[in-house]
Amino acid sequence: MHTETHTGLESPKGNWWKPAHKAEKVWVGIAFAWCMVLFAMMPLWHWKGGQNPSGIRRRVEPQAYAQRTEEFIRQYTVGEDRGVPIVAPPPGADVYLMAMAFQWRPILKLQKGAQYTLHLSALDVNHGFSLFPINVNFQVVPGYDYGLRVTPNASGDFRIICNEFCGIGHHLMVGRVIVEDAPAGTVADRGGDR
Ligand code: CUA
Repeated sequence: MHTETHTGLESPKGNWWKPAHKAEKVWVGIAFAWCMVLFAMMPLWHWKGGQNPSGIRRRVEPQAYAQRTEEFIRQYTVGEDRGVPIVAPPPGADVYLMAMAFQWRPILKLQKGAQYTLHLSALDVNHGFSLFPINVNFQVVPGYDYGLRVTPNASGDFRIICNEFCGIGHHLMVGRVIVEDAPAGTVADRGGDR
């Protein structure tokens, strides 16, 4: 006669499981130790690896950032490409780039070998700054102004790809950075080191 019913909600009685094999315990130990190494590398790499930007970072209202960028555009506009202004700031300048669904504004025209402080912020949601075909990636976050010290080391016509999904037009969000060789005889012409 059937005296006991069983549901899948309760575990069966008795020692139905086997203790972990020694090799499995060793493996879990190694995996855990490796997790700890990677965890320690995150802060360590920030200070030792030189891969994370330690530039300017401050809070900014998106509206204020947009105003600052438009002011920057008015000051240094040299042309236009399909309605987007092309802006050529002088070496050493603070350069402003804003990301919004689904556009990068403005188009930047920079000089090879000159140093700039590149400000990045978003007006609406998170976007991703990815300079193509060069491997430069950065999160662009609304409410924060990141000032990266950059020195273009290659001339060319580059594209900015948005690498953070930001909505229906994400794949159309392409910007442009033009880097020109410095005019002969200028400070920048003598070359930056990066
Ligand atoms: Cu902006 Cu994806």
